[in-house]
Amino acid sequence: MKKIKKILESQKENLEVLGKALGISAAVAIFAVVFANVTYNEKPVVKRGFEIPVSSDGKPVAKQEEKVVDLATMMATADFDRGAKVFKKCATCHSVGKGEAAKVGPNLYGVVGRARGATAFSYSDAMKAKGGAWDAESINAFITKPKDYLPGTKMGFAGLKKPQDRADVILYLQKQ
Ligand code: HEC
Repeated sequence: MKKIKKILESQKENLEVLGKALGISAAVAIFAVVFANVTYNEKPVVKRGFEIPVSSDGKPVAKQEEKVVDLATMMATADFDRGAKVFKKCATCHSVGKGEAAKVGPNLYGVVGRARGATAFSYSDAMKAKGGAWDAESINAFITKPKDYLPGTKMGFAGLKKPQDRADVILYLQKQ
């Protein structure tokens, strides 16, 4: 009787081991199926935002619409009287008549072709260091955004945004 009981007990142990093994196999199989689903049903990667074109030096490239307006083209349609009107914005700080005294800024008589920082005026160090002479192109660049063209300039003027305004006022200055 004892022997039979012992056999039965060992059989029971075998069954338990078998059961555990089956359980583990089932778990592995389920895991494998779930894992396969997750990896193969991945949604396609959706690109968010938009691309900003960047040039080789890392700066964003100007938008296509912002065409660089050629100064020569603008000068061809420049108008002296309009220039005189535009100059009113400059006249708060600049005299333009020959021999007139400086105001907040230097006198601008004959400034096109004149050496930079050439009048009796206490120019900024940036202007003194710049050197060279003013021509239509550099005045155009300067009055577009003075602080960009000459960082450290004393000219506290935001700039003339409209290309035609700049051409007109440059023509006006050329005729002084
Ligand atoms: C708020 C006053 C102010 C206004 C407005 C202003 N400027 Fe000036 N401008 C200055 C000052 C100050 C300087 C001297 C800058 C320096 O030393 O860095 C200067 C310098 C200049 C120079 C260089 C002169 C030189 O002798 O080298 C030019 C050219 C000039 N301005 C043109 C203009 C024009 C054109 C306008 C109008 C579209 C204008 N500025 C409006 C204050 C002004």
